[in-house]
Amino acid sequence: MEDGVVLEVSSLKKRYGTHYALKGIDFRFTEGVYGLLGPNGAGKSTLMNLITDNLTAEEGSISFCGTPIGTLGEAYLKEIGYMPQQQNLYRNFTGTRFLYYMAALKGLEKREAARQITELLKMVNLTEAADQKIGTYSGGMKQRILIAQALLGNPRIVVMDEPTAGLDPKERIRIRNIISQASFQKIIIVATHVVSDIEFISKEILLLKKGEIVEHGAPEELLHLVDGKLYEVETDLAGLSRLEQSYQIVNVSKSYDTVTVRLLCEKPPEGYVLSVPKANLEDVYLYRFCEEEK
Ligand SMILES: Nc1ncnc2c1ncn2[C@@H]1O[C@H](COP(=O)(O)OP(=O)(O)O)[C@@H](O)[C@H]1O
Ligand SMILES: [Mg+2]
Repeated sequence: MEDGVVLEVSSLKKRYGTHYALKGIDFRFTEGVYGLLGPNGAGKSTLMNLITDNLTAEEGSISFCGTPIGTLGEAYLKEIGYMPQQQNLYRNFTGTRFLYYMAALKGLEKREAARQITELLKMVNLTEAADQKIGTYSGGMKQRILIAQALLGNPRIVVMDEPTAGLDPKERIRIRNIISQASFQKIIIVATHVVSDIEFISKEILLLKKGEIVEHGAPEELLHLVDGKLYEVETDLAGLSRLEQSYQIVNVSKSYDTVTVRLLCEKPPEGYVLSVPKANLEDVYLYRFCEEEK
C-alpha cells in the first residue's frame, strides 16, 4: 500500500445520448494541485462530476487509494469537497449559517464544525462578513465562501469547477493563493479555461480537448511543446496583415511604427526580423487548442 492520497481514473468514458463527452480518460492523481485546462465543452465539468460521484460513467473505473469508489460508498463521499460551477445558491443564508448547514450535511459534530468554520472563515478572509447574507456578497466573496464549504470536513480530494469565473484580477489572485494554501495532503483539481488561474500553482496540468487528455505535465515541461514554434517578428501594419493570413498570431504589440507580432508556426516566416521569446503557458494553450484553424 502506497503512502499518501491517490485517485486513479482508468479508461473513463461518459456519453450524453450518442455524444461522448469523455472518450477514455486515464490519470493518476497524487497530493497537490492539478489544473484541468480546456475550452468550453471539453468535458471538464463531466470529469469533475464523475470524480465527485454525481454522475456514473458508461465505462471505466475510479479508485481512491486502491479501492473502487463504488465499494467505498459513503466513506468516499466524506473524502470529497466540491465547489460547483454555479454560485447563486443560498442567497438568504448568512455565510456562517450556510457553513453550519453544509457541515451538518457532511455529518460534522457541532463543536468540530464550529472549530473548522472559524478557521476556514479566517482562511478565506470572510470573518467580518460572516454574518451578512450571501445575497449581499460580491462575486469574489461568494466564490470564497464556496471554497470554505468545499474544505469543511477536511476532505482529501477537493474539486473546484471554474473557481474564478467572472472575477476581477485581484480576486483571481486571492482565490489562487487560497487554493495553493489548502493543498497540503490533498488532491485539488481545478477546472478552468483561464491559463493564469493555474499556471503557477499547479503541480501538473492536464489539457483536455474534446473529451481526451491531449497533454499533461508540469507547467515547465509543457512549455517545451512550443520549442521551435514560437517567434516574435518585428514588422509594420502591412506586414501584420500578411502574417495574419498564414500564421497563428498569439499577440500583437505596437509602438510608434513598429509592430511586434508573437506567432506560432512550424516553419518561421522568411524575410522578417525574428527573435525567440520565452514561452508561457498561454502560448501552449493556443498552440494545442487553435492549431486546426490555420
Ligand atoms: N447534461 C448534459 N446533457 C447533454 N450533453 C451534455 C450535458 N452536459 C454536458 N454535455 C455535453 O458534453 C460535453 C462536455 O461538457 P462539459 O463537461 O460541461 O464541458 P466543460 O465543463 O469543459 O465546458 C459538451 O459537448 C456538452 O455539450
Ligand atoms: Mg464546465
